[in-house]
Amino acid sequence: MTNRNLTELDMAKIVSLAKRRGFVFPSSEIYGGIGSTWDYGPLGVALKRNVKEAWWQSMVYDRDDIVGLDSAIIQSPEVWIASGHADGFADPLVECPTCHKRYREDHLFEAMGAESNASGIELKCPDDGAKLSEPRMFNLMFETYSGPVQDTASKVWLRPETAQGIFINFDNVVVSTRKKVPFGIAQIGKSFRNEITPGNFIFRTREFEQMEMEFFVKPGDDDSWYEYWIKTRFQWFLDLGVRAENLRTRPHEASELAHYAKGATDVEYNFPWGWSELEGIASRTDFDLSRHEQHSGKKLQYFDQELNDHYWPYVIEPALGADRAALAILVDAYEEEPLGTGGKEDLRVVLKFHPDIAPVQVAVLPLSRNDKLVPKAREVHSALRKHFRTEYDDAQSIGRRYRRQDEIGTPFCVTVDFETVETDNAVTIRNRDTMEQVRVPIDDLANQVRAQLRSMGSTRA
Ligand code: GAP
Repeated sequence: MTNRNLTELDMAKIVSLAKRRGFVFPSSEIYGGIGSTWDYGPLGVALKRNVKEAWWQSMVYDRDDIVGLDSAIIQSPEVWIASGHADGFADPLVECPTCHKRYREDHLFEAMGAESNASGIELKCPDDGAKLSEPRMFNLMFETYSGPVQDTASKVWLRPETAQGIFINFDNVVVSTRKKVPFGIAQIGKSFRNEITPGNFIFRTREFEQMEMEFFVKPGDDDSWYEYWIKTRFQWFLDLGVRAENLRTRPHEASELAHYAKGATDVEYNFPWGWSELEGIASRTDFDLSRHEQHSGKKLQYFDQELNDHYWPYVIEPALGADRAALAILVDAYEEEPLGTGGKEDLRVVLKFHPDIAPVQVAVLPLSRNDKLVPKAREVHSALRKHFRTEYDDAQSIGRRYRRQDEIGTPFCVTVDFETVETDNAVTIRNRDTMEQVRVPIDDLANQVRAQLRSMGSTRA
């Protein structure tokens, strides 16, 4: 089965596997849940950390021209007035007068295959067919109060994007790092949007993590850097093993562009419900720096020594959701493989994660919970955990344990058996994808596991 053929039914299976194996749980479940809100379990948190780590590695550690930042979630409300979010960060909301369900008007048009500004189409409630209300613009920012007094002076917003924290620190970073244009500032952190219609598991939620990078360039150099970042970001997904046929780029129509953008291109993924935005790459011009300079009164122009001139750098921004990236990687990795001659029991479910993303890279399993095998397997595990993300497991039969490791996407299982302790001091390494087993001396095990992880595509093992 290829991912192209994944259906909504497969999506339900993936959501169920995610809960059963401890990737993602419905949040506040013991209180009946709070719609479209999710908690990451032990394996999910590892998966998302690995995704963020791979992004940070490629953006910050592997380059000389990008530095990191971690700005506050609650910032001065002036930030959001200057950026245009206070007035303009809104979606068109329509409501059913009968069942009171609310929808995003542009999503309903999209589902009908019509333009989002289509005129003359009467929108009906998808549930009961009643004529929907006229649209009203609904601001997506969450409001709260900072400090003990709840009045207009203490009103603040939770950030709806991490980007503005970067713009307001532009001068601090230039002065403290002496970076010269072109250079970038990268940030990973939570963002909040009061989405009208969250949904599709962790695809669209009201609280999510973003990985954003603002790349500052000389005006006039922006178009070539825009192309560069579209290519570079697309390649990042391929390098993490996402199948090329499930990825595409889609340039935005002029009518879709956000208020700050000169151009924008989405990297889209073929999710089980269809092609949807995974990451956005935007050409933001000097909109943000110039607006913050005007609103704050603080000079945010850059002095270019070579040109002996001041200017607001233009900005290219690749912006990706960590949760959405983790979801695409999870969906892309999901496979069902028939074993033998049919029947439900003969189906192997396997997550074919890239070895740098897999929550567990190598599992150590004694053949059985035997007094001789367990201490040896523990010893092997202690040695391997210094080098790799590992797990030790001696519960249930060896067959069931292999199944579990396949289902959580562990690339290799190391098995300690009676020959190990009685004759050869060697173990078997089982490959998740081919299910082939090779026998390897314990003395050389870490090297062999590293070589196998590399042959599966790891660049970091
Ligand atoms: N600073 C630009 C910006 O925030 P965006 O297209 O609104 O642009 C960037 O968001 C990325 O953040 C999206 O491509 C998506 O991956 C992720 N994202 C946005 N809204 C989200 C939501 N409600 N839930 C999960 N991820 C979201």
